Amino acid sequence: MNSLNVPAFVQHTKLIEWVSEIAQLTQPKTIQWCDGSETEYQELIQLMIANGSMQALDPICHPNSYSVLSDPTDVARVEDRTFICSEKEEDAGATNHWQAPHLMRQTLNGLFKGCMQGRTMYVVPFSMGPIGSHIAHIGIEITDSPYVAISMRKMTRMGKAVYDVLGTNQPFIPCVHSVGMPLKQGVQDVAWPCNREKYIVHYPESREIWSFGSGYGGNALLGKKCFALRIASVMGREQGWLAEHMLILGITNPEGKKHYIAAAFPSACGKTNFAMLIPPQTYQGWKVETVGDDIAWIKPSQDGRLYAINPEAGFFGVAPGTNIKTNPNCMATLKKDVIYTNVAVTQTGQVWWEGLTKTVPENLINWKGKTHEGHEKAAHPNSRFTVAADQCPSIDPNWDNPQGVPISAFIFGGRRADTIPLVSEAFDWIDGVYKAATMGSETTAAAAGQQGVVRRDPFAMLPFIGYNMADYFDHWLTLGQKTHILAEANGHQLPKIFNVNWFRRDENGTFIWPGFGENMRVLEWMIARCEGTAHATDTAIGKVPRYEDLNWAGSDFSRSDFEKVTTQEPKQWKKEIQSHGVLFEQLGERMPKVLKQHQYKLLQRFSETETS
Ligand code: GTP
Ligand code: SPV
Ligand code: MN
Repeated sequence: MNSLNVPAFVQHTKLIEWVSEIAQLTQPKTIQWCDGSETEYQELIQLMIANGSMQALDPICHPNSYSVLSDPTDVARVEDRTFICSEKEEDAGATNHWQAPHLMRQTLNGLFKGCMQGRTMYVVPFSMGPIGSHIAHIGIEITDSPYVAISMRKMTRMGKAVYDVLGTNQPFIPCVHSVGMPLKQGVQDVAWPCNREKYIVHYPESREIWSFGSGYGGNALLGKKCFALRIASVMGREQGWLAEHMLILGITNPEGKKHYIAAAFPSACGKTNFAMLIPPQTYQGWKVETVGDDIAWIKPSQDGRLYAINPEAGFFGVAPGTNIKTNPNCMATLKKDVIYTNVAVTQTGQVWWEGLTKTVPENLINWKGKTHEGHEKAAHPNSRFTVAADQCPSIDPNWDNPQGVPISAFIFGGRRADTIPLVSEAFDWIDGVYKAATMGSETTAAAAGQQGVVRRDPFAMLPFIGYNMADYFDHWLTLGQKTHILAEANGHQLPKIFNVNWFRRDENGTFIWPGFGENMRVLEWMIARCEGTAHATDTAIGKVPRYEDLNWAGSDFSRSDFEKVTTQEPKQWKKEIQSHGVLFEQLGERMPKVLKQHQYKLLQRFSETETS
C-alpha cells in the first residue's frame, strides 16, 4: 500500500491513527480521503460506469441520474446478522442478537484482515444533522465501496466542512465498512462485490460500528440505521433524548397555524409517503411540508416541548408503489440527480418499477439485468432511490434548522390486515407508550426473511434499538414524565399519541382505506384533537372518531367502509392484548411494571364488555 497521503484539511491525530490502523488491517491498494466535492462525486460516478457497476440513465428524462443493480443475494437489511455487542448480554436484551465483544472482535479481525486488498479505501466524513448544530453528531465511515461513498454524499452532510468541526480532537463515531471481497491480482471485479457472510456489528460502549459483507442500504450506509438509530439510541438514553424511526412533517391550516408531527411506521410501511403527503383538492389552504422521511432525533427543551431534527440529508426510499398519483412530491424530487438501486430500466434508459404505470414498458431489463418476463417482478420489492432532500418540492423551510421543530403529536402505525382501527388516540402518555410498545406489523421486503407475517415491532424500532428494549420503554416513560412537568410549567402540553393503520383489508385481501393523500382526513382530525376542537368517543382501546368527525369533502368513502376500517372486534382484541404478553415475558425483569399493569387493565375492560 502507498502511504496514508493525509490531506492538509485533516488535522485530527486520533482520526489519522485510526485510519492508519484500519488500513494496516484491511490492506487497501490506495486510500482516498473524500472531500465531498462535486468533482469527486463525478469521478466516482465515472469510475463506476467504467467498471460496469453503474449505468447512466437517459440524460433528457433523468439528468445526472444512474442505475445500479445489486447482487441478487444482497438486497435488504440483514436482521439475523445484526449484532449489539455490549459488555453484558442483558444490556442488549432479548430482542437483539448479542455476542461477547472480545469474541466478536476476534471474528471481525479475521474477516477484515486483508479484506480491502486491490481496492480503494474511501474515508468519508459526515455529519448527522446540520453541520455544527448542537444536536448534530459526526461520523467517519471507512468503506471500500464507491457506491457507499456517493450514496453517503446524498444521505448525509458529507465533506471537508466536517473536519472543521472535528478540528484536532473532537469526537466522532468510527464506522468501518467493507463489502468483504478482496480483489486478487489479475482477477476481474464483479459489478456488485459482496460476501455471503455478513456482519453488522455495534459496540454500544465504545460507540463503534463494523459492517462486513454487504453493500446494500442500511447494512452499508452506516450513518443511517447503525449510527442514527442504534448507536444514537444509546447516546440518547444516556443524555436524555430520543433517536427514532420517524418521519417529521409540518402541517399548516388555512389560518396559518402550523403543527409538526412525528410518525413511526415500520420499514416500508408508509413514512416517505406520509411525509410528502399532498392533501385532497378540497383541502384549500392547507399545506403539508416535509422535514424528514425516516429518522428523527428528538430533544426535550427547557420550555417543556420536544424538538426534532432530521439527522439525514437525503431520502433512501422504496421505489415500488411510487407514482404520480400516490406521491407526486416524490416523483418531482426524482426529476434529476438520483441513484436508483435494483429498479428496472428500459432500453432507452427510463426507470420502471411495479406501480409506476399501469402498463409495463416494452423491452424492459429487470433488476437482475435480464429481459423482464411477466411472471417475475421487474423491480425488486425493496428497490430504492437515493436523492438529496432539498430537491423535494415539499421540503419544510425549517428542515435544516439546527434548533429542530417542536412536536405536537406522535403517530405510531403498523401494517395490519385486521384488528387495528384506522385511528385511535391514546388516553395519556402511558397508554400511548403502551400502544407504541405493543405495535404489530406485517414484515416487508425491507429486511431479508419471510414477508407478510405479523410480528411485534415496538415503536417501529425492533431492528434499531441499540440496547435492551425494556430499558428503551422505560426511557420513553421517564422522558414523558419529566417533559410533562416542564410543559405544565410553561403552558404547553405533552405531545398527544395516536395509533393508525392504513392497511386494513377486506375478505378479498384488498386495502379498504384509500391511503396516501386521503390520510390527510385522519391527520386533520388528529390536529383538531391537539387543538381541542374535535370530538372523540372513548372506547376500551382509545379515543376514536365517529364517521361524522372526519372531513369527507370530495371523498366517496362510505360510512359502511368506515365501519370496516374502524370496528373493534372484541374477540380479536382479546387475543391481540393477550399476545402482547409474549413480548413482555420475553423482556423479563426489566420490563416496566406500569406497562404490564396496563395490559391487565385492558384485558379487564374486554372481559367486562363481554359479560355486560
Ligand atoms: P422505509 O424507507 O423502509 O423505512 O419505508 P417507509 O416507511 O418510508 O415506507 P414508504 O413510504 O416508502 O412506503 C412503502 C410502501 O407502502 C410503498 O410501496 C408505498 O406505495 C406503500 N404505501 C405507503 N403509504 C401507503 C398508504 O397510505 N396506503 C397503502 N395502501 N400503501 C401505502
Ligand atoms: C428501512 O429498512 O427501514 C430503511 C431502509 O429505511 S435501510 O436503509 O436499508 O434500512
Ligand atoms: Mn426506515
